Amino acid sequence: MPVTAVVGLQWGDEGKGKLTDALCPGAHCVVRCQGGSNAGHTIVVGDVTYKLRIMPSGIVQDGPLAVVGSGVVVDPDVLLQEMDTLRASGIDVERVRLSQRAHVILPHHRALDGAAEDAKGANAIGTTRQGIGPAYVDRANRTGIRVEDLLNLDRLRERLEPALKLANHTLTTYYHSDPVSLDDVVTAASAWGKALAPYITDTEQLIHASLGRGERVVLEGAQGALLDVDHGSYPYVTSSSTVTGGLLAGAGVGPSSVDSVVGIAKAYTTRVGGGPFPSEVDGVAHDHLATRGHEFGTVTGRPRRCGWLDIAALRHATQLTGATSIVLTKLDVLSGLSSIPLFEPKEGSENLTPLAGWDDDLTRVAHYADLPRQARDYVETVRSLVGIPISHVSVGPERTQLLTVS
Ligand code: IMP
Repeated sequence: MPVTAVVGLQWGDEGKGKLTDALCPGAHCVVRCQGGSNAGHTIVVGDVTYKLRIMPSGIVQDGPLAVVGSGVVVDPDVLLQEMDTLRASGIDVERVRLSQRAHVILPHHRALDGAAEDAKGANAIGTTRQGIGPAYVDRANRTGIRVEDLLNLDRLRERLEPALKLANHTLTTYYHSDPVSLDDVVTAASAWGKALAPYITDTEQLIHASLGRGERVVLEGAQGALLDVDHGSYPYVTSSSTVTGGLLAGAGVGPSSVDSVVGIAKAYTTRVGGGPFPSEVDGVAHDHLATRGHEFGTVTGRPRRCGWLDIAALRHATQLTGATSIVLTKLDVLSGLSSIPLFEPKEGSENLTPLAGWDDDLTRVAHYADLPRQARDYVETVRSLVGIPISHVSVGPERTQLLTVS
């Protein structure tokens, strides 16, 4: 059972990229399964920082095939630019495999996403405006364009024409925005098809062949369980299934192949965009977390909302994902707080349990046992409240700043 799934247990930005990278040595392939360029996964190797939006994070490691699965919605311009940037950094992008069944984000999807957000005013979801929602709408509506259509422009034009007519009607009459030209999209699609053709394949077959040989496959989730379209804080969610079941569907793999589900959670909580956030803080506490944690969105640059670790939400996320272990990231950001509240809604009493803080800088600590006692107490308290083993803690962005909990 050689599949490891990496899932976010909060509202995204938990550090899945770093963990996926760490799990990839020895893997035959690493798969992005859902979402698209709304994601921003960061991997730091020495002086080089890689910021990936569509590519699976394992591409930074030598060896694994980098698969973009059928559940992903692909913006070809973003993908091609990402491949160029990686190539320029000396990364072998010939290992990229793009599912023929993945859906394509087209200019009218981005236009509709932005126009819908503008029209909602104060009720906006706060999407990344990358066209993710409208592309998934077309997928569910059976009017979407798939990657394989980029290789057959007659078919693409035939399928796109009615869908674009509808989108343009909405854009012009409802949102009073500019229409998108069919000819322009077909011209762009022709260039995308030529550039991406060498990478387009049946990725499910590739993954099954790998599993058949007993090779390890890593599934990389994007966003987090609390942004799941079904189980998140609807309607303030993304439009894909971000829990482990969604990853499996997006990769085309059955659950019996999975032997571990690594849930990633920050040692505190952040959220970008609108929606409920029970443990949110402001003032000095917010400034501490935001400044030390560099809490700005990777894709949009928006400041992230910050709060304490929400134990009830974390426990729920482990149930939704079936996490078999947790990696607690950014523990170093909590240094310098005299006390660190853990948030757990309790009927009729205080929601916050304060734990003792610590002053020591954790970023240079190389072994878990060398962390200050209060930091280990914090990790142990989280473990016992959530009821899932914590396998590692991360104390900085570098690959090496990952401590095995002993
Ligand atoms: P969308 O996925 O762009 O439609 O945005 C829907 C919601 O999900 C918004 O609140 C976004 O800020 C949030 N979101 C989407 N992708 C990410 C991510 O990778 N990290 C954190 N939040 C995200």
